[in-house]
Amino acid sequence: MLNKLQWWQDGVVYQIYPRSFMDGNGDGIGDLAGIRQRLDYLAWLGVDAIWISPIYPSPMADFGYDVSDYVDIHPLFGTLADFDALLGEAHARGMRVILDFVPNHTSDQHAWFTESRASRDNARHDWYIWRDPAPDGGPPNNWLSAFGGSGWEYDAVRGQYYYHAFLKEQPDLNWRNPAVQDAMLDAMRFWLDRGVDGFRIDVIWHLIKDEDFRENPDNPEYHAQMGEHRRLLSTYNTDRPEVHDVIARMRELLDEYDDRMMVGEIYLPVERLVTYYGTGGRGVHLPFNFQLIGMAWDPALIRTAIDQYEAALPPHGWPNWVLGNHDNHRIASRIGPEQTRLAALLLLTLRGTPTLYYGDELGMCDVPISPDQVQDPLEKNMPGLGLGRDPARSPMQWDDGIGAGFSHATPWLPLGADYPRVNAEALARDPYSLLHLYRKLIHLRDEWSALAVGSYRGFSAGPRLLGYLREREGQRLLVLLNFDAAQQVVDLGGMLSGKILLSTTLKRDGEPVASTLLLDGYEGVIVCADCT
Ligand code: GLC
Repeated sequence: MLNKLQWWQDGVVYQIYPRSFMDGNGDGIGDLAGIRQRLDYLAWLGVDAIWISPIYPSPMADFGYDVSDYVDIHPLFGTLADFDALLGEAHARGMRVILDFVPNHTSDQHAWFTESRASRDNARHDWYIWRDPAPDGGPPNNWLSAFGGSGWEYDAVRGQYYYHAFLKEQPDLNWRNPAVQDAMLDAMRFWLDRGVDGFRIDVIWHLIKDEDFRENPDNPEYHAQMGEHRRLLSTYNTDRPEVHDVIARMRELLDEYDDRMMVGEIYLPVERLVTYYGTGGRGVHLPFNFQLIGMAWDPALIRTAIDQYEAALPPHGWPNWVLGNHDNHRIASRIGPEQTRLAALLLLTLRGTPTLYYGDELGMCDVPISPDQVQDPLEKNMPGLGLGRDPARSPMQWDDGIGAGFSHATPWLPLGADYPRVNAEALARDPYSLLHLYRKLIHLRDEWSALAVGSYRGFSAGPRLLGYLREREGQRLLVLLNFDAAQQVVDLGGMLSGKILLSTTLKRDGEPVASTLLLDGYEGVIVCADCT
């Protein structure tokens, strides 16, 4: 562990999907002016940092994850002046700003790609991953795109294929080329100089591909419902050893500045994930831990996952936890609304940095999208498999007025039908709402440092229960979560006598606790041991 605590260790990160957060200019799409209008809400909630999904110029083939200029703002979202204003206003409220950086690929409309594809001998001819066709004229190897179909696209001008891990409109950069590294580091420097506090680095485990372009092996677990993009294992097009050298260069750059951080998007098994902490401070500060997104909502499995993760962390590796993001189904839809309070308690009391996805604090659900409303290219390419990400990207539900307070115009994605009831304004009025639970938990983390940064120790509370102790400097807090719909009595075995600091019902604060504790169905509590 690091000696001095950094802001990204005890803080809470809040992800904003900018198209869907708040529309400031009345075009049905969220923007920077909108985010500025809602900073007071975020300050009230108590989050320490916002991560904003991409806001750069982009043809929007993948809604901003196809960048055509790394050092500007898309006019849809505003201007650089709007960005500076947002940054200043966030900082004035003590809130950090993390930008989404997308280094693996550009848009096919980026000037670098236009140049690169123009001939085989231009100055940027090797900035992307170009390969000759196979002897039969087909793609150079069997690598697949994560968005369906081959990962290779033929370009008639060069008479070669280029590789794209995602859409063909998102050609992968050649990160083995030092000139590409320099250009991308310059782009990061541009934002660091402007004052951003860090980066969420998109698909960081993809950056380097196998030098020999070896064929990927079959995925033994593959079945058609998974989507054809998972037919092969990504053995040779992701997670290559040399990726750690380019991450080290990014880290070196960040370390030239004070207090900056990077969190890497990485979907890998835990033992591979933790290698991204790097050795000797050369890795990302936080490799995103997506275990709670991918696994079944079951206390025994969650316990095992926590234990394995804690055991796998390198000595300097700071943990982190995520319940949802713009690429996955919403937590309320995955586990059902009756368990969203348990999820909030879990996210905000596990050891490590929590990342909260906008709207999850309201219990927003996946919004059904009819075929004619589909925006997401993933759903368009592989329809009907439930892969589409639009349902989790619906507009933030601010109030019960026109357009849920998000926009007066028709929003780019449909609103959740529950917005007249499930909205920030209504929930802020109800002291027992999920929103108040999130707020209280976030504030408790400030008050009780054991919750944010204390040690973690499992506590066997019984079947269908999850329990753990968080301890620090004389603070001893026991967290208990009942994953069952029925009431359960927890035997505390005389290990403590204290009081309830918080129950997910928000109605038992201060209740004394002795040898046993009765938990309601799906109730969770934080017990302060030794408190009188
Ligand atoms: C990341 C983003 C996702 C995007 C993909 C390609 O996984 O989170 O939204 O589609 O990268 O850039």
